[in-house]
Amino acid sequence: MKTIRLPHLFDMKQKREKFCCLTVYDASFANIISGLGVEIVFVGDSLGMVIQGHDSTVPVTVDDIVYHTKQVARGNQNSMLMSDLPFMSYSTTEQALHNAARLMAAGAHIVKLEGGAWLAPAVQALTERGIPVCGHLGLTPQSIHMLGGYKVQGREQTAAQLLKDEAVALQEAGVQLLVLECVPSQLAKDISETLRIPVIGIGAGKDTDGQVLVLHDALGITPGRKPKFSKDFLTGNPAGVNGAIQQFIDEVKSSSFPAAEHEFV
Ligand code: KIV
Repeated sequence: MKTIRLPHLFDMKQKREKFCCLTVYDASFANIISGLGVEIVFVGDSLGMVIQGHDSTVPVTVDDIVYHTKQVARGNQNSMLMSDLPFMSYSTTEQALHNAARLMAAGAHIVKLEGGAWLAPAVQALTERGIPVCGHLGLTPQSIHMLGGYKVQGREQTAAQLLKDEAVALQEAGVQLLVLECVPSQLAKDISETLRIPVIGIGAGKDTDGQVLVLHDALGITPGRKPKFSKDFLTGNPAGVNGAIQQFIDEVKSSSFPAAEHEFV
């Protein structure tokens, strides 16, 4: 199987082929998920909630992400390995460089950070030094206390325009991928069509270039309330965990996931 790197994802965008991303936190799942051909295995700071049991991603540390990145790197076969820079680990360019270097040394191929145009100097510094960056706009869970809750972003016209401007600013600063979380589907479609870089959606409709889900959501094992944008691919699946992951892949590739019931308008 071909090793997935950024040019492959850019090529898929050109050919309008959808790609998949799942969060993964350990070697065993990394082995299954990358073995089935998920293009990006992602050590997300969602581990603070689904692994550590916190009520937000804010308590997650760089040490936590390094620890899980090392595990995923050992299990990964051919996927691109993306790792999250956690809360306050990139609030200055110096911090971003230091902490991103730790994630890359642990086995990441690209780092992800949350926020808009204010990140341009950090993105430029990272990419100039050979560290690819994925942006993250829309609902940015590290800012949950500023946002006031896990709410859809970009519904009003000014907020939607700001989001588009931030997406372009990040691209111009050098990000190679962008996650859009919990935004109206039409806005996500417009941004995906405007940007030359691949856009990965979560709660952003079916028209982004790729789709990401938190693994525990995709397996229906996240404790508590299930996000509207997620789908349990495991319950009732006769082929178990592998079957659930394969179904996620098939539904993303055929654009049947996300369906209308998973979208925001
Ligand atoms: O940490 C995470 O899991 C995320 C989502 C986009 C899946 O950032």
